[in-house]
Amino acid sequence: MSEFILETAGLTKEFKGFAAVSNVDLKVRRGHIHALIGPNGAGKTTVFNLLTKFLPPTRGSITFDGQDITREAPAATARRGLVRSFQISATFPHLSVMENVRIGLQRKLGTEFHFWRSEKSLNVLNDRAMELLEAVDLTQFADTVTAEMPYGRKRALEIATTLALEPTMMLLDEPTQGMGQEDIGRVVELIRKVSANRTILMVEHNLSVVANLCDRITVLQRGSILAEGPYEEVSKNPQVLEAYVGSSDMNDAHH
Ligand SMILES: Nc1ncnc2c1ncn2[C@@H]1O[C@H](COP(=O)(O)OP(=O)(O)OP(=O)(O)O)[C@@H](O)[C@H]1O
Ligand SMILES: [Mg+2]
Repeated sequence: MSEFILETAGLTKEFKGFAAVSNVDLKVRRGHIHALIGPNGAGKTTVFNLLTKFLPPTRGSITFDGQDITREAPAATARRGLVRSFQISATFPHLSVMENVRIGLQRKLGTEFHFWRSEKSLNVLNDRAMELLEAVDLTQFADTVTAEMPYGRKRALEIATTLALEPTMMLLDEPTQGMGQEDIGRVVELIRKVSANRTILMVEHNLSVVANLCDRITVLQRGSILAEGPYEEVSKNPQVLEAYVGSSDMNDAHH
């Protein structure tokens, strides 16, 4: 078993000749929380779209858990355990928080009709849904209509519905976006907790979150990898500091 759960080689995505992602060799270690950072337009979301097969690459390969998954269908890749939060688990605003988690579980277990006719199966489902809500600290919101949940808690619900699929690797695109300090702290602790037995790759603009949570960082700039390493090292790299001038200031991030 390779120490890297995910590896890309020469990964490239061109849009009408413009290289949004260019020759990216990304390696993510099993069990790590790995950050993908970089200025706006660097290609971070496009990398996620390639990894989840939402977009086909122009060139290059993607290896997950030792298997070449470059040409695999998105659903097959998700079934392998490489899942992007809110890729499959878009929440239904008019349903309760509990119902949304149950739908996530239903996706994992399959939609075999007879399954739902057994009362015992329904109880197993309810118990598991409640466990997931406990894991993300949302039991108090179980019966709340999802649309009425506080904004800062919605990411936790998305994480719960993603966890229902039992991913071995989770991709999170800007999990703290638009949140205040208190909610950021909660999401950081939640990510740390759910990372215990899996790998996380996250795009994050908040550099104090990156500094405090991530084992390793890859910096993208104009589609290419500019630097890769632990935060201490990457945050001192002159080219990285240069790339961040005028946007986020790497020197302002603290542990
Ligand atoms: N479907 C598309 N068609 C054409 N160009 C695209 C498409 N998707 C992305 N791009 C371009 O590719 C580049 C990378 O975009 P991407 O969304 O991956 O950046 P990002 O690093 O996620 O940025 P941000 O931090 O703003 O989210 C941008 O210049 C963007 O305009
Ligand atoms: Mg993006």
